[in-house]
Amino acid sequence: MKIVIFAVLLAVASAKKFSVEKSGNTCAMLVLSGKVDATASNGTQDLGSMSLPFDSATLIADSNCTLIKLNLTSSVEVWFQLDGATAGAQQIQPIAKFTPVDVFPKVNETADVVFTADAFGSFSTNQSFLCKASVDHAFTTQQVTPVNFTLQATTDQLQIQFGNIVNGSFSSDTSECDQDKTSTPQPTSTAAPTTVLPPQQDISLNVTNGNVTCILMKGFFTISVTFEDTVAGKKVNRTGDLNIPADAVASGNCTLNATVESMQILFGNGWELDFLFSKDVSSSDDTSVSISEISVTYNTAAFKAASPVTKNVTMEKKGGFLKTNLGGYYQCNANSTCIDESGVKLTTTDFKYQAFRTKSDGNFYGSIAECPADEETSSVVPIAVGAALAGLVLIVLIAYLIGRRRSRKSGYESV
Ligand SMILES: *[C@@H]1O[C@H](CO)[C@@H](O)[C@H](O)[C@H]1NC(C)=O
Ligand SMILES: *[C@@H]1O[C@H](CO)[C@@H](O)[C@H](O)[C@H]1NC(C)=O
Ligand SMILES: *[C@@H]1O[C@H](CO)[C@@H](O)[C@H](O)[C@H]1NC(C)=O
Ligand SMILES: *[C@@H]1O[C@H](CO)[C@@H](O)[C@H](O)[C@H]1NC(C)=O
Ligand SMILES: *[C@@H]1O[C@H](CO)[C@@H](O)[C@H](O)[C@H]1NC(C)=O
Ligand SMILES: *[C@@H]1O[C@H](CO)[C@@H](O)[C@H](O)[C@H]1NC(C)=O
Ligand SMILES: *[C@@H]1O[C@H](CO)[C@@H](O)[C@H](O)[C@H]1NC(C)=O
Ligand SMILES: *[C@@H]1O[C@H](CO)[C@@H](O)[C@H](O)[C@H]1NC(C)=O
Ligand SMILES: *[C@@H]1O[C@H](CO)[C@@H](O)[C@H](O)[C@H]1NC(C)=O
Ligand SMILES: *[C@@H]1O[C@H](CO)[C@@H](O)[C@H](O)[C@H]1NC(C)=O
Ligand SMILES: *[C@@H]1O[C@H](CO)[C@@H](O)[C@H](O)[C@H]1NC(C)=O
Ligand SMILES: *[C@@H]1O[C@H](CO)[C@@H](O)[C@H](O)[C@H]1NC(C)=O
Repeated sequence: MKIVIFAVLLAVASAKKFSVEKSGNTCAMLVLSGKVDATASNGTQDLGSMSLPFDSATLIADSNCTLIKLNLTSSVEVWFQLDGATAGAQQIQPIAKFTPVDVFPKVNETADVVFTADAFGSFSTNQSFLCKASVDHAFTTQQVTPVNFTLQATTDQLQIQFGNIVNGSFSSDTSECDQDKTSTPQPTSTAAPTTVLPPQQDISLNVTNGNVTCILMKGFFTISVTFEDTVAGKKVNRTGDLNIPADAVASGNCTLNATVESMQILFGNGWELDFLFSKDVSSSDDTSVSISEISVTYNTAAFKAASPVTKNVTMEKKGGFLKTNLGGYYQCNANSTCIDESGVKLTTTDFKYQAFRTKSDGNFYGSIAECPADEETSSVVPIAVGAALAGLVLIVLIAYLIGRRRSRKSGYESV
């Protein structure tokens, strides 16, 4: 309870006031709290995100009686422009802009990107517009940029007025937003329960090339997918877990080229899990093998989505995933998440893989590269034994010291 009250006080306390003066009188005024969030991505890769609070914004000097410009950092600006086209029904047009290179270190674009969001409010010239509810403003841009940017502002405690401001305070005649009128706290969309299909099964997969079983993989595999769905007319994010079934079919190519082998695993209805295995011959003594690319194709029809979609998510990592030595294999018994990206998560248990094999049988051979999660589990026993030994040494040492003291004491007494 105390925490809730504290949080409310904080929210109120962080609303900030901005006023535009004209010949000594306030002609435009804005109070708000909230934040601006932006992201950058080039379609395949997340190139960064940022979140800036309005309470650290400053008023930009060239604001005027119909346009309040806020400076959130050196380059991010949010403007509240009076759209007074229809007198008696004035609106606010939000505008935002930033210089990508100043905001996202990974983005090398110097041209400003300008965004607009839907105009909001409806108030007459002698009213102030008030919105206590938290409102999201989704901004869009018409500019075509090599990198995709998203921008969203959230305003809480917003109050704004243009003109007719007496003694620097808002008009008591306020027009309040619709969100405040239906002010029963809106239930946060409860996450739909996770759908799990079918039970987990230990699966064994292989790719052969003539009489050689060049790739072997086994374990329990779960693919978790987060997707947007419509439930009872409402948009919700659902999660579905699909355990790869034992009847999954593997195929592949072990002669793609000298350093790359591939494996495709087909299962469910239109699902696919693809791996590319790479041999890194650049390291001088030990040649390593790793998974250089993982690609998941899923179909949300499996989870009875209202409008099923098929999506393909590909993940690459510099240096590869799950590295092992050539001639050896990778093992991870623990429940371990190998990838978690773009709403797709691949989890394995009792997992093993070996690529670039030269034997025909179905047994893993050679040295083992074990995942860190297994090392932690297996180091519990040595640590316990070590601690017990240290304890023993301590006890012996104390016993010895006490013994020595006693014998000394008795020595003095006898003198
Ligand atoms: C996205 O950016 C990454 C890293 O900058 C780059 O490797 C990748 O090729 C880019 N993809 C596209 C489609 O531009
Ligand atoms: C930008 O987003 C649109 C729509 O989501 C997508 O079609 C397009 O490929 C994206 N472009 C880049 C460069 O990411
Ligand atoms: C306020 O500034 C904007 C742009 O800087 C300009 O278009 C507009 O005419 C100005 N309005 C007034 C009342 O000065
Ligand atoms: C915004 O503020 C930064 C300092 O945080 C300043 O360097 C920059 O010039 C300001 N921009 C404008 C348009 O006032
Ligand atoms: C950014 O782009 C400019 C001009 O296109 C180029 O000269 C510069 O080397 C680029 N910088 C980086 C880090 O890519
Ligand atoms: C679903 O999640 C995405 C990404 O986190 C978010 O942008 C979107 O608003 C969420 N949709 C719903 C209905 O919660
Ligand atoms: C494997 O890929 C190589 C190179 O693309 C191709 O020549 C060969 O036919 C493929 N083998 C199989 C079994 O698909
Ligand atoms: C082998 O194929 C992969 C993927 O098709 C490619 O990225 C790589 O450069 C190729 N390597 C050689 C040595 O041809
Ligand atoms: C998914 O995308 C990857 C990379 O673009 C591609 O190699 C793979 O074949 C695609 N899988 C499917 C089933 O379309
Ligand atoms: C792995 O996770 C599954 C469910 O996610 C659970 O049933 C199983 O016991 C876990 N196994 C281990 C070894 O933790
Ligand atoms: C595969 O067959 C070839 C020719 O039949 C033979 O030379 C080779 O030893 C065999 N390899 C294995 C691993 O059995
Ligand atoms: C490879 O997979 C096939 C089909 O599941 C199976 O019949 C065969 O025994 C497997 N080979 C090895 C060496 O495990």
